[in-house]
Amino acid sequence: MLEPTQVHSEGPTFSRLVAGVMTWGKWGAKLNATDMARLLEQLVERGITTIDHADIYGDFTTEEDFGKALAIVPHLKEKIQLVSKCGIQFPAPGFDHPHKAYQYDAPYIIQQAERSLKVMGVDTLELLLLHRPSPLLDPDAVAEAFARLRSAGKVQAFGVSNFTPQQFATVNSRFPLVTNQVEASMLHLAPFTDGTLDQALELRCKPMAWSPLGGGKLFSETVPAERRALKEAVAQLAEEKGVGLDVLMIAWLLQHPAGILPVLGSTKLSRWENYLQATDVSLSHYEWLHLWMAATGTELP
Ligand SMILES: NC(=O)c1ccc[n+]([C@@H]2O[C@H](COP(=O)([O-])OP(=O)(O)OC[C@H]3O[C@@H](n4cnc5c(N)ncnc54)[C@H](OP(=O)(O)O)[C@@H]3O)[C@@H](O)[C@H]2O)c1
Repeated sequence: MLEPTQVHSEGPTFSRLVAGVMTWGKWGAKLNATDMARLLEQLVERGITTIDHADIYGDFTTEEDFGKALAIVPHLKEKIQLVSKCGIQFPAPGFDHPHKAYQYDAPYIIQQAERSLKVMGVDTLELLLLHRPSPLLDPDAVAEAFARLRSAGKVQAFGVSNFTPQQFATVNSRFPLVTNQVEASMLHLAPFTDGTLDQALELRCKPMAWSPLGGGKLFSETVPAERRALKEAVAQLAEEKGVGLDVLMIAWLLQHPAGILPVLGSTKLSRWENYLQATDVSLSHYEWLHLWMAATGTELP
């Protein structure tokens, strides 16, 4: 069983592996309500209780589909922690969004959080994230929205996604944030060197890593020439450890001292059953750095 982890001293307690639902609905597997309910139940049984949404997933339809699934298994509502995101707009049926845009005015943040609650049929979100930074973001407006949502009990904790460390610090100076959800994997190393993980360590805000398996790009038969050495290094160590490549990639993230929470996207239970092995895989400093060097393509200086 997976041990839960506290994201921040003031923040939520989440499962160490988080289920991302971006491709559960219209944008991917198109699970019907029964299949979605079954998958959710199977994940919860295995200790994967934190579910990562965004209002936009499935062209603004996946939260509603998830709500229909939850209505089949309502007993799970008190066992799961729901994360959602808002702020990205694009034209979609039922929405007055004529263009792609980012919108972080207080009324819009509140409106979208309330919509997430309504369509999922729940009373509260454990975490609300601002989906992407906007050049027009006003941290005072954000703080006002967050304060109102929290005092109404509609959202328990707040964070951002894809923000630079300075953008995080700016919002955090007005309202305490608990996490920055960023793309991080052996195929996307920027957060390791751009200050994102250093800031997470400094503030003790555990980061969430989206696409922790790089969207599966290393697993296909043919990988681009520049990734072959990485694949070989991962495959060799995975074999030594007796696990799959995916498990080793997750273990590598888990072992970083920032306490990263990988947000995984598969809709296949068999994959999840493997992923659970990642918490038992231990890498020596040398093994971790060996994979780092394979991922960066350079020796340690
Ligand atoms: N905050 C943001 O801006 C942002 C952006 C993107 C995503 N996200 C979140 O992150 C979540 C995960 O993103 P992701 O789906 O890119 O993550 P991922 O877990 O890195 O990639 C999932 C993909 O990898 C494939 N895969 C996984 N294990 C595999 C294996 N052992 N062999 C072959 N293929 C394998 C999956 O295929 P199968 O489906 O066949 O298993 C799926 O296509 C999303 O659901 C969303 O919640 C957030």
